[in-house]
Amino acid sequence: MLPNIVLIGFMGCGKSSVGRRLAGLTGHRFLDTDDLVTQAEGCSIPEIFALGGEEAFRAVESTVLDGLVGIAGVVLATGGGAILRESNREALHRIGVVAWLDADPDILFERATRSNRRPLLQTADPRKSFDELLADRRAIYEASADFRLDSTGIDHDAAAKRILEQAMKCRPAGN
Ligand code: S3P
Repeated sequence: MLPNIVLIGFMGCGKSSVGRRLAGLTGHRFLDTDDLVTQAEGCSIPEIFALGGEEAFRAVESTVLDGLVGIAGVVLATGGGAILRESNREALHRIGVVAWLDADPDILFERATRSNRRPLLQTADPRKSFDELLADRRAIYEASADFRLDSTGIDHDAAAKRILEQAMKCRPAGN
């Protein structure tokens, strides 16, 4: 049995796109914590932030993650801030092999601001907010991951293949 694969990383790193491809490669089901939060609340992430702020969003995100512990046969893409709570980090490791999908900051910024669906970047100075959040989080991604993949210069298919190779080394089939 292939291990579950959990993708962490900053907004815009391609967790959902690479995750879908990984699901195709492995036969695993693709899940995305942002989608599960949206389904649980019956409204969009910007609406959750507007109604209850970041704390309300984080509370649902944690509940969703706790509910996934024990699941098998999944590739899980997580929201960029899912690694902020220690209890979430523990849940992520219990769910599967944790891969940090990284890329050059300019690429991340360009992708993360293509749409207006990311409340944390809807500020007077999105680049400043982006840089501050990334600076605060880099060490947490590093400490939270079993391995990192820098996807700068490679496409989503290649990133998915490399993550699968690394995940198999990390936790061979059957473990
Ligand atoms: C967030 C990232 C978003 C989403 C929410 C908060 C963050 O997900 O969970 O807007 O704190 O970095 P993506 O990483 O998929 O954009």
